[in-house]
Amino acid sequence: MRGLLLLISTLAVLAVTSRSQITRTVGRLQEVFAWKQITFNINGNDITQDRYGDDDLDMTRDKRQAGSVFFNNDDDDAVRNWNQTSQNKRNNRPNNRPRPMWGNWPTTSSTTTPTPSDEAGRFFIQYNNLPMGVERVDNRLFITLPRRRYGIPSTLNYLDLTRDSNTRSPGLRPYPNLRDSRALTSVYRTRADSCNRLWMVDTGLLEIPNDRQQVRQPAVVVYDLRTDRQILRYELKSTDIIAANTPTGLASITLDIVDDCANTFAYIPDLATYGLIVYSLRDNDSWRLTHNYFSFNPIAGNLRLAGQRFQWSDGIFSVTLTEPRGGCSSAYFHAMVGTHEFSVSSCVLRNRTASQDPNFWSQFSEVGDRGANSQSTMHGYHAGTRVVFFADIGRDAISCWNTAAALTPAAVEILAKDSTRLSYPSDLHVTGDEVWVMANSLPTWAYSRLDTNEYNFFIYKANVQDLISGTVCAGRGRVRVNTRTGTDKEENNNTTTT
Ligand SMILES: *[C@@H]1O[C@H](CO)[C@@H](O)[C@H](O)[C@H]1NC(C)=O
Ligand SMILES: *[C@@H]1O[C@H](CO)[C@@H](O)[C@H](O)[C@H]1NC(C)=O
Ligand SMILES: *[C@@H]1O[C@H](CO)[C@@H](O)[C@H](O)[C@H]1NC(C)=O
Repeated sequence: MRGLLLLISTLAVLAVTSRSQITRTVGRLQEVFAWKQITFNINGNDITQDRYGDDDLDMTRDKRQAGSVFFNNDDDDAVRNWNQTSQNKRNNRPNNRPRPMWGNWPTTSSTTTPTPSDEAGRFFIQYNNLPMGVERVDNRLFITLPRRRYGIPSTLNYLDLTRDSNTRSPGLRPYPNLRDSRALTSVYRTRADSCNRLWMVDTGLLEIPNDRQQVRQPAVVVYDLRTDRQILRYELKSTDIIAANTPTGLASITLDIVDDCANTFAYIPDLATYGLIVYSLRDNDSWRLTHNYFSFNPIAGNLRLAGQRFQWSDGIFSVTLTEPRGGCSSAYFHAMVGTHEFSVSSCVLRNRTASQDPNFWSQFSEVGDRGANSQSTMHGYHAGTRVVFFADIGRDAISCWNTAAALTPAAVEILAKDSTRLSYPSDLHVTGDEVWVMANSLPTWAYSRLDTNEYNFFIYKANVQDLISGTVCAGRGRVRVNTRTGTDKEENNNTTTT
């Protein structure tokens, strides 16, 4: 017995050792995790394949709820807000069973033809789990899975960077736990602030193709990261949500702490109906701004990504703030379908009446053009170097621009590029002196089929200085050394999109 334990622990040490020796890189980015398919670690149970229910996973649940896939009818606002009309369309649920939160009770009938709604109510459909957002906060890595299909156990999840780093593909842990993770319907991306709070927009939407269900009003949601409790759920106003498809566009959030934690603003781009929603925590109020610069550029909308051709029209997608000067930051922003960067003072965004000023429109500026195929999801500003990093979906790349230089294509440099391992960089976040990136192969997932024998989802990190040294982003007057082939020759030979 002791010999066996010794053998097991020796093997475990070997596994850890061999893991730490393998350093996979793409350009200047270092891979931290990668998955062929997402798996979960729920209360120590590894969920590695499709699963019908969650009965044995949540030890904290009381008996009354033990048979339900999701909460009992009485337990959750989401169920009260359930759209009765669409619910009645789904008629296979036995009357005596509690109503599931995310759809109809699954039927085991084999006579029905498979449609997306046949998957409703299932606990885990592995292929449907597409990770979108990544953010490191201290020792935790938050990973979001927006509910764009059925079978997603939890939309907000995390990895523990101490406990989960000994494998390339760890199981995601629902945040804060499986039961409480159900307070959220669908989250695209999170952002933490310096006041130990984690912010996000819960779109309240099950974005299932042909079966879209707005189960709750979209809301700004904040967790206290010290207690892991939800401390705010502010439902956006009807004047913020101008159309039925507006919630699909609330895919990121940017925080602006003015002088203390209580005086914080959240800026929420609406990429679907082209606006910027501002939330003031102090006033507990929100308002919506419009500007033509929030729109997409029609000339940049024909995309060819991962071999798929399509046309998108995503408008304002990402806002990133410089450090404040004279109390105001520059808020850099861009549409995803476009290659131009724009800016506005955060003091204009914070001012609820600014949009009534006839001068409002001219307080926004065009900063410059980043260049061909530079369509970008998220970007992030690093205060120490004044460099902005971009996740370029149009060229499967991460790029940089030093804000001290005028923004032209020549002032932008690609730091990493790979047609498979950086396919669709869906999130990029600067924290401290690190840049974290998620790439999720979304075009293949959405328009074709992922090869589940290959790695499809990647999380990378890099140190800011390592990323920009020797590049145009390191600042003018530096000697420029071409070191990019140094770390990963193979990847540099393999950068063309097919
Ligand atoms: C409920 O669903 C029906 C049909 O799916 C739709 O016409 C109606 O607008 C929905 N109501 C609400 C409040 O979402
Ligand atoms: C914030 O405003 C909403 C209504 O918009 C209200 O329901 C909520 O109680 C308010 N929260 C606080 C902390 O005042
Ligand atoms: C807000 O904007 C209005 C209109 O431009 C301006 O008159 C007012 O001084 C601004 N308020 C602050 C606090 O800057």
